[in-house]
Parts: sequence; C-alpha cells; structure tokens
Amino acid sequence: MRVFQFPNALRDELRALHVSIGFIPTMGALHSGHLSLIKKAKEENEIVVVSIFVNPTQFLKGEDLEKYPRREQADKRVCELAGVDYLFYPNAEDVYEKDEVRVCAPNVRGYILEGATRPGHFSGVLTVVMKLLNIVNPTNAYFGKKDAQQLKLITLMVKQMFMDVNIVPVETMRDSLGLALSSRNDYLSAHERTEALKIPSALKKATSLVIAKEYDVETIIKEMEAILAPLEVSYIAIVNREFVPLTKVETGNSVILVEAVVGVTWLLDNIWL
Ligand code: PAF
Repeated sequence: MRVFQFPNALRDELRALHVSIGFIPTMGALHSGHLSLIKKAKEENEIVVVSIFVNPTQFLKGEDLEKYPRREQADKRVCELAGVDYLFYPNAEDVYEKDEVRVCAPNVRGYILEGATRPGHFSGVLTVVMKLLNIVNPTNAYFGKKDAQQLKLITLMVKQMFMDVNIVPVETMRDSLGLALSSRNDYLSAHERTEALKIPSALKKATSLVIAKEYDVETIIKEMEAILAPLEVSYIAIVNREFVPLTKVETGNSVILVEAVVGVTWLLDNIWL
C-alpha cells in the first residue's frame, strides 16, 4: 500500500495508471462498515483508494472535531490488511487554503433533518467530497446508506455538476444486536450502547407496521417515539427517495430516518422501504 499526503502527487500518480479506481472517502476510526465498502470496491475495480481525513469544515462550532477518534497507525494497518492500494492521508492545510471556493448544499434538502440540526454541515461534506473526487478521479465512489441524506446530496452534486463518477450506495452494517456501525459508537458507555438499541428497535417497529399495511406517517412516528423514549430524539422523518417528506409511506420509495442523542452522542440510522 502506498500512502500519499499531498493531493497533487496522488492525483498525478493515479492519472497515469489508466485503470478503474474504486474510492472510499472516510474520516478514519475504521470499522467493519468501512471494510464492507473496501471489499465491494475491490470486487468492482482494478485498484482501491481510501482517504482518511477528519474534515474540519463539516463540523459546527462546539461539535466533536477535536475529540473525533483518530487512530492513524491502526487505520493504516486495517487498510493494508484489507488490500487497499493507495491511502490518502492529508493534513487540513494540504486540502484547504484561506479564502476558499466552497460548495453550497441545496437550500431545501441540505437544510432539513441532519441539515437542520447541523446547519452548514452538508456544505462542508460536499466541499470535501468534491475535492476528494477531483483528486482521486475514481470510476466508482462508495458511500454507506447509513448516512442516507449525505448519500442523496452527494448523488445530487455529482448529477447536477455533471461529474464523471459513479456513486455506489452500500448497505448499512450492524453489530450482532442491530446497532448501526459508526465511528461515534466509540463514545458510548456499555449502558448507552444498550440504550442506543432503541434506535434499530424503532426502525424495526416501523417496518413491521408497514408490512401490516399501516402507511400513515403520523401513526408510524408516534409508535417509534414510544419505543425511543426517553432518548432525546432530534428527528424522526419519513421521506421519499428524493428526500421529500411524505404523509403516507410509499413502499419501494421511502426512507425512514432517525437521529437520537444517547448520552452526549448523536446517532443516525434509517431503513429504506
Ligand atoms: O461519511 C463520512 O465519513 C464523511 O462525511 C465523508 C464522506 C468522508 C466526508 O468527510
């Protein structure tokens, strides 16, 4: 595995290869969810590139930028063992200049749900993803469905900016009890981990209601709230695959999303129905 710190050096190296490139952008603290993205990328491309960069522009003031888990040596080893060909590991100064051109998240879909609780977050995500895609110029880029709104906005950016990359959604990985894997799970105590299981339970309940032909969004959300209590729920929402809020579930075209705070950690999860 070759490790690059500087964007232009990596870009020049990859441009000269003329092979299909699978790319997985990450913020590190790699877990089995990331490994499933790497595995898929390895199956579908000649070479695989991973980036590890805790992107400062997607953290709001007072969020966990400083304490976000950083495990440089362990992450490098994980990438090596997973058969990654190139690792991009820049510093913030290698990626950002002062007085920058930025990408703006769309006014509506970038500022609902996660975008409402973290205004500006998605502009930071889209800006760094635009930069990373331009540096790596991949054939396919892999993103987890756990961050469903992020995935939607990146797909929109690629389409609307006429970018030449295929965005590949990958199923959410869960632990044996059903909790969606996330680097932020590291923050949870044993008790909080148990509490966090209310999130997948609420989504399971929503699924069983829809299977029983209960499509009314208000009713489903009430049932989910009852399961999630007493967690602090940032939002429960049911939207279509374009992220337009629904009043009735449309089977085959809906996403049910939850964000809840467990202790001081906010956790996201969703189900695509
Ligand atoms: O999902 C993430 O880990 C990040 O938002 C991403 C896509 C790597 C951009 O920093």
